[in-house]
Amino acid sequence: MLAGRRIVLGITGGVAAYKSAHLARLLVQAGAAVRTVLTDSAHHFLGPATLAGITGTAPERDFWGEASPAPHLDLARWADAVCIAPATAATMSRLAQGLSEDLLSAVVLATRAPVLVAPAMHSEMWSHPATQRNLAALLADGVIIVGPASGPLAGGDVGPGRMAEPEEVFAALEQALGGGALAGWRVLVTAGGTREPVDPVRYLGNRSSGKMGHAVAEEAAARGAAVTLITAAEPPEIPGLEVVRVETAEEMARAVWGRAEACDVAVLAAAVADFRPARPAATKLRRADGPPALALEPTPDILAGVAALAHRPFLVGFAAETGPAEGAVAKAASKGVDLLVANDVTAAGSGFGTETNQVALILPDGTVEAWECLPKRRVAARLWERIAELRSRGTR
Ligand code: CTP
Repeated sequence: MLAGRRIVLGITGGVAAYKSAHLARLLVQAGAAVRTVLTDSAHHFLGPATLAGITGTAPERDFWGEASPAPHLDLARWADAVCIAPATAATMSRLAQGLSEDLLSAVVLATRAPVLVAPAMHSEMWSHPATQRNLAALLADGVIIVGPASGPLAGGDVGPGRMAEPEEVFAALEQALGGGALAGWRVLVTAGGTREPVDPVRYLGNRSSGKMGHAVAEEAAARGAAVTLITAAEPPEIPGLEVVRVETAEEMARAVWGRAEACDVAVLAAAVADFRPARPAATKLRRADGPPALALEPTPDILAGVAALAHRPFLVGFAAETGPAEGAVAKAASKGVDLLVANDVTAAGSGFGTETNQVALILPDGTVEAWECLPKRRVAARLWERIAELRSRGTR
């Protein structure tokens, strides 16, 4: 299932570049969004117009376009996976050394998404100790190598070095992205910050943008789950999601509690108000009447309500902390969750409104697993991988 996944397809200078056009077509047909990056020599083998026609976006070539001051970072963060097919010996060498003088190798250096490489070269070049050293280095870095196959090569030669067929690269991408791994799962996700009315025009709210919860929902849907997103933020346009728009903690509680027992997994990523005005004014509060005294009352604890259900789903809570994750360990235990995702909203690149997030997972035994700062979609991807692992070992 590659529908909705974002693939950067890197094409380097080899005759097998013609196969990349077919690979791009397979990806687009599967519903993936594809952006291509051509190296200078790839231009001799494949025309940009062909790729633009297939993917709907002109290929990227270098750092110096008008559209972005840092195209390598844009592409690296956008990608759910980076796939280089064909990859020449020269490209493998650059990647193995961590060079970044061209756009494609800079993207690979900057991304935290899975990287797939489909080598294509003459047998002598493939079997040369230098290439084999580079191959070993790439494998050690976690790069997924697809192929090469043995068969006819450019110039009439026959031997190992032929690029894997597009269908094989496509299947490897599906596997790398855990495609369809959540098929058959019913998932509920909450997102956004609730708003508690003070009067008809004002509310008590918080800084949550909903981006993290929306990424969690989008990623689950892309992996084949049936997803209900209950959100207090402007919902994204994600095909295939059931979206329930709510505003207050009370509305969110009703929407969640009515559905949670029918779900396999509930991820409560919303920033829910803990208190609300006890008596919101029916008409607008007037300045002339002076500052109002706001009496607050507790809102329903949505997570506690789910944890108390007789048939409760695998339950994932989020904890917005303003300090180290260790403070969230006690919270995980007291809330009875199967997993708590803690993030320090005061850390750089983390928390409300940012595109990235730095989180720590608190496991049921109190173990803290700190992750590096990642794009929110990548955090969501890794979170689903961990949930799948934990569920495969547990009873829920
Ligand atoms: N949550 C909830 N209902 C509430 C408040 C929070 O379900 N009324 C959920 C959030 O969606 C989140 C988890 O509880 O998954 C933890 O939220 P957090 O605000 O960190 O927890 P609190 O218990 O409110 O802790 P704190 O005292 O730090 O605010």
